[in-house]
Amino acid sequence: MPLLLGVNIDHIATLRQARYANAPTSPNAEPCTVLAGQDALAGGADSLTIHVRGDRRHMQDADAYRIRAEMKVPLNLEMGVTEEMVGLALKLKPEFVCLVPENRMEITTEGGLNVLASFDKTRMVIARLQDAGIRVSVFIDPDLKQVEAAGEACADMIELHTGAFSNAAGDQVQVELDRLTVAAKEGHFSLQVNAGHGINYTNIAQILTIPHLAELNIGHSIIARATRIGLTAAVREMKDRMAAYTAGA
Ligand code: PXP
Repeated sequence: MPLLLGVNIDHIATLRQARYANAPTSPNAEPCTVLAGQDALAGGADSLTIHVRGDRRHMQDADAYRIRAEMKVPLNLEMGVTEEMVGLALKLKPEFVCLVPENRMEITTEGGLNVLASFDKTRMVIARLQDAGIRVSVFIDPDLKQVEAAGEACADMIELHTGAFSNAAGDQVQVELDRLTVAAKEGHFSLQVNAGHGINYTNIAQILTIPHLAELNIGHSIIARATRIGLTAAVREMKDRMAAYTAGA
């Protein structure tokens, strides 16, 4: 199986909100998340990822419904484990949901979801989403206890948090890569293994040494590159790098 790419287009909405937070659906509001999604698809994105946060700092509910209605693309909704977001997911019916922790003051998702500490609630939310035909992933740190808890909570997939790896320097880089490798090896017996956070055009080479990966979710670096060469070309560049992956699921 080729390694799939989910392109996170939240930052398209971040840019729009910087000017149009009071009127995100006005005809003047740009850039358009649907057009960005189309550009990402043209570059080879396998799915689109959007995170509708509790504070609605970037993606709005209207973005989610428009993308769903106007695009034929597998949609991955990142969401906090809250009743409000379960309600949104059940109406939107994305193909996938990725459960993430949410903290109002964070710049971006900081740590993985503590599935162990929130086991009953997480297990119940997973079941409700799966009953609606949605495949569920949990975004976790590469920690074997969390991998095990994700399996016991009956998640379909885990997304391994690559943030500590991408922020590491010196000898710590290999330490973090080893943690990701061990977690992927353990996870793949019963779960689809994805990875994301902080992956860029340089560190992707090391990410490709992790075995059993099915999908990467990448946002910031692709959108940053898109400001120089356009989103379609930026996605294509990342897909070209990912084509070297041979350690697949
Ligand atoms: N995966 C998850 C669960 C995330 O929360 C994010 C950030 O929104 C990403 C992947 C993408 O991270 P980045 O923007 O650093 O590529």
